[in-house]
Amino acid sequence: MVIEYRPVWADVDLDRLWHNVKVAQAHIGKKQIIPVVKANAYGHGVIEVMTWLYEKGIRYCAVVMLQEALELRAAFPDLGILIMGSVRPQDLEICSRHQFDISIYHKPLLDAAKAFNGPLKCHLKVDTGMARYGFVETADILDAAKTLMTSPHIEWTGIFSHFATADEDEQFVYRQIKRFVEVLTQLPELPPMIHLANSAGTFRFEPDIPMTTHVRLGLSLYGCVNMPDPKPPVRQVTRLRGAISQIKLLKQGECLGYGQSYCAGQDEIIALVPIGYADGIRRAYRDHQVAINGRIYPMVGAICMDALFIKIDDSVSLDDVVDIYGDVVTMDDAALHLDTTAYEIMTAISLRVPRRYVKGDSR
Ligand SMILES: Cc1ncc(COP(=O)(O)O)c(C=O)c1O
Repeated sequence: MVIEYRPVWADVDLDRLWHNVKVAQAHIGKKQIIPVVKANAYGHGVIEVMTWLYEKGIRYCAVVMLQEALELRAAFPDLGILIMGSVRPQDLEICSRHQFDISIYHKPLLDAAKAFNGPLKCHLKVDTGMARYGFVETADILDAAKTLMTSPHIEWTGIFSHFATADEDEQFVYRQIKRFVEVLTQLPELPPMIHLANSAGTFRFEPDIPMTTHVRLGLSLYGCVNMPDPKPPVRQVTRLRGAISQIKLLKQGECLGYGQSYCAGQDEIIALVPIGYADGIRRAYRDHQVAINGRIYPMVGAICMDALFIKIDDSVSLDDVVDIYGDVVTMDDAALHLDTTAYEIMTAISLRVPRRYVKGDSR
């Protein structure tokens, strides 16, 4: 991708990323943050994000799959990397070789780890209600913990669980906390890392989640939080921007784009931006808004694969830059319009969009 020839780009503000780390750290006191950098750091660029966090002193992170862990390992030989998702028994050798922490979440993997002939770092995954990965029954959890404690080639590095409703149902969150604590108190010993909360869980329920040592943060580090007010003062890290490629007049009664689905009620000025659904702006995003020079303008017509239309006024010129998502129309606003979450908005920005790494005022 030749960045300078694509007049559409995502500004990723690393200062904001660090600001968000500090906001979270202030909230959790002595507990530590595990940055979640799966899915290419939620679309922000995993190597660039991790390079910045590493420079700032962070030495541990979480991804969801082996492929992501390997990409990070190639760039960071001494970084602690937890693979939170599934690992196949045949991949234990490569996990061992690269010193990844893996999640032991069911009996077949526990048995494979026990039988494995080499050092392994393991976090025990407990299912406290999410019903995704993890051991459910107390007897199975205690049994798995015993295996991890007593197998000489295994280093028991952590135990964790995951909230299902951190951004909504408070009662279910408390049930999960209660269950996790119940499990922890029955264990004869505890590993060094104990973690449960994601972003919404952290900002809504920490520092009152007992016995935990770490939180796993993704969304909030990237500046969005899907939780009721009061929201923490995190700042959206990415601004998705585009130049205007054409300005045209749409005369009253004329229609535009695929399906001719938008027709001008009067003479209107239309700007084209060369970004479309192949860049991650879903077709369903039509009829929402963008910002130009801090002012809001409506999108009109169908979103094309490589372009979208904006109804502008005569104060806008070809030299202006359009903020598709920024501080005026945020990713949270976009998520609301699409009846989805900011997770989907940020991870959808495709690799065709060049990322520009900026720091604060330099953008
Ligand atoms: C197991 C696990 N932990 C932590 C996170 C981070 O969650 P959030 O992005 O809400 O902080 C995720 C993200 O989906 C996850 O799957």
